Amino acid sequence: MCGIVGYLGPKEPKNIIIEGLKKLEYRGYDSAGIAVIHDGKTKRVRAQGKLKNLEEKLISESFNGHLGIGHTRWATHGAPNERNAHPHQAGEISLVHNGIIENYLEIKAELIKKGTEIKSDTDSELVAHLIWEDIQKTQNLLQSVKNTLGKIVGAFSILVMWEKSPNELIAFKDGPPLIVGIGEKEHFVVSDVQAAIKYTKRFVYLNDREIVHIQGTDVKFMNAKGEPIKKDIVTVDWSEDQVEKAGFKHFMLKEIYEQPRAVAQAIAPYIDTDTHSILLKNIGYEMTDLYKKIDRVFFIACGTSYYAAMVGKYLIEQIAKVPVETDIASEFRYRKPVMPANTLVITISQSGETADTLAAIRLAKECGAQTLSITNVAQSSIDREATGHMYMNTGVEVGVASTKAFTSTLSLLNILAVQIAKVRGKISVADEKQIVQSLLAVPSQMETVLSYDKYFKEAAAKLAEFKGFLYLGRGVSFPIALEGALKLKELAYMHAEGYAAGEMKHGPLALIDKDMAIVVVAPSDDLIDKTISNLQEAKARGGKIISIGTGENEGLKSMSEFYLPLPAAFWTTNPLVAVVPLQLMSYHLADHLKYDVDQPRNLAKSVTVE
Ligand code: AGP
Repeated sequence: MCGIVGYLGPKEPKNIIIEGLKKLEYRGYDSAGIAVIHDGKTKRVRAQGKLKNLEEKLISESFNGHLGIGHTRWATHGAPNERNAHPHQAGEISLVHNGIIENYLEIKAELIKKGTEIKSDTDSELVAHLIWEDIQKTQNLLQSVKNTLGKIVGAFSILVMWEKSPNELIAFKDGPPLIVGIGEKEHFVVSDVQAAIKYTKRFVYLNDREIVHIQGTDVKFMNAKGEPIKKDIVTVDWSEDQVEKAGFKHFMLKEIYEQPRAVAQAIAPYIDTDTHSILLKNIGYEMTDLYKKIDRVFFIACGTSYYAAMVGKYLIEQIAKVPVETDIASEFRYRKPVMPANTLVITISQSGETADTLAAIRLAKECGAQTLSITNVAQSSIDREATGHMYMNTGVEVGVASTKAFTSTLSLLNILAVQIAKVRGKISVADEKQIVQSLLAVPSQMETVLSYDKYFKEAAAKLAEFKGFLYLGRGVSFPIALEGALKLKELAYMHAEGYAAGEMKHGPLALIDKDMAIVVVAPSDDLIDKTISNLQEAKARGGKIISIGTGENEGLKSMSEFYLPLPAAFWTTNPLVAVVPLQLMSYHLADHLKYDVDQPRNLAKSVTVE
């Protein structure tokens, strides 16, 4: 994953690069580094660990050049220490890299044979050596970058500067995102617009195998052969304060609290609030026609987005009566899927950059499927691959643990299920109205359950005594159980498993004892009685129950150590509200245990490597 920031312009680059890296720290935080031209020489500073370690090292440093590159790392090749931190250097070349060089072993062997001294364990440093080797012959940075590209195999994006040419910056993208910020006589190259949004709102998104060549105030785009290409400038309307904590202790808590507004924003473009109906006008002719013809839907996603997809399966099958399959992207792309004619593949990705999901949508297209992307980032790589588009519209999600993107997606899946059903004539006006009214009620229902914030803050110490957590649910609540368990694992580093409540007796029941908490998502729907029977089985074996139910459900309450009532809702929107207490519970457990909530260990927000 990794975050990249490059700057060429009239200002002092150090602070611009560090500020940019702060906005990208969610992409990786094992180590960080910066290289800036100073008095005609490259000055490089790197540090292991979080960006603040680099900042401390930089306090006494000053630079007088106008060109610099920076990087925050998520280790793939080589341990997360200072010698493996970027930028890497070879002779007069400095380079930052995001991605994986697949043929690095051959390149390394070749370089060692020639007597090159390799200073790190990374694949990235080797690229710097290849460029340095070449530039000593060409004396031309662009030519040497192009010559080097032919020697590297993999998915990689690089940003390169040459000490001898302090007014020149070159980037190449093949895989991980790179975006060029166009400012007033200054240019930025960044992994995510957040890193430069303070300085410009005008961006150019590089496609795969494209180069940007910035020289002074001039910027040129070309393909890997160096042939010029025309690129559009996109104006991004995110503001800088969207990436600030706004008084909250963590981004995650802020984003949990933003959910009522996020859901309202996500559904607003699709709903006629006078008639309580769902609009078809913004689907586009192509998709409307497609929704009529489809025989099957495949959802493909990773992590939390995959759990949203699982909810989507229940919604589309039950509302639109179309068969649905769900796939984890990393499985889908290698299982040689059979795609019958008239298949619609829907990818879900908050970042729009997840490598496996991107590969999956490309594969789906090769197999002849039509595609719809649900993402939070317009113009992201996945969004650009798809024919149809839906946007979460939640604003930036900074916390590595996904919250508001998940609930916004669930609201869009309600909309999508009704749209498909409507186009196919499978839904009555009354049923549509019920779904719309339930959706419109979600923001205020979420406000109500946000009051569990205080409750979990107080309960965290007691909850932290449990040795393990089993999350259970049935129907649409099953993916919510999985999501609850994922949140606890990634934030509080505690063992947690999500299970379909009816599966418990096929194995997990053996885990249950007094130290095991059973977190059950059991809103009052058609399956509640069955879930309660499963809980009796767990209770009889000493399990301690934390339950989330609808209103004052006395049966559920009497079995539980902790009972959390939800407002009454229709089955289609229960998951949106039920997940909020689970988010708060994981947040407070992690905070109580003094873990880094926004940047959990070993993780990154945008997983742009396989
Ligand atoms: C969520 O809390 C996770 N950090 C992670 O599972 C995430 O949902 C997954 O990596 C997919 O990301 P995407 O939605 O950006 O594709």
